Amino acid sequence: MSFFISFEGIEGSGKTTQIKLLASRLESLGYDVLITREPGGCPIADQIRRILLDPDNDNLDPKAELLLYAAARAQHVAEIILPALEQNRIVLCDRYCDATLAYQGYARGLDLQLVQQLNILAAGMCRPHLTLLLDMQPEHGIERARDRNAANQGPDEGRFEQETLAFHNKVRQGYLKLAEEEPRRIKIVDADGTLEEIAMRIWRIASNVFKPQGGM
Ligand code: TYD
Repeated sequence: MSFFISFEGIEGSGKTTQIKLLASRLESLGYDVLITREPGGCPIADQIRRILLDPDNDNLDPKAELLLYAAARAQHVAEIILPALEQNRIVLCDRYCDATLAYQGYARGLDLQLVQQLNILAAGMCRPHLTLLLDMQPEHGIERARDRNAANQGPDEGRFEQETLAFHNKVRQGYLKLAEEEPRRIKIVDADGTLEEIAMRIWRIASNVFKPQGGM
């Protein structure tokens, strides 16, 4: 079976770790899993990612930013996500269309309908069956993200971590609004707690979908 799950949440909400934990769990049940992320996920989109996350690009115009996210997504969907789903794989994607609505729409203040239209242009019918929204207070998330960046010293990360707390609060509220509008697809997961606790909360939701594969 093919199945598409996106993970969303503010910076430092632990998405990346939880994606890996869910992937191992699914693989141990016999599923063929692909982990990918946005912006990025393929060479062309990774080039766009570098522009988007470069802290030196602090004068990037919000409309240019929106179009770059859309461009990266169009390439990623065509080159990676759709082919994987056609091969009956489980796709776990670290951020997707809801991130554009939360960050560029709710937080930056661009027109939500315009953002939605660009999402449709870029992603077409390729929509997640399930979205796990890892929700936490921005204060906690930003702290975690700063520690992580200090440890990694990644040169291309960090433009969004320079944003104010007010911005991250808008992102969070935007995500919660989206979850309220689409409760069947978007499930809110409390992202405060130990890795194991959060993984358990996620599995409680995912186990409704995934059963052990034949012979395992
Ligand atoms: P990344 O370092 O991958 O952050 P995280 O690990 O928190 O996901 O950077 C991705 C950044 O891009 C993140 O700050 C959110 C932002 N973003 C948008 O603003 N719009 C989008 O559509 C997407 C996919 C990401």
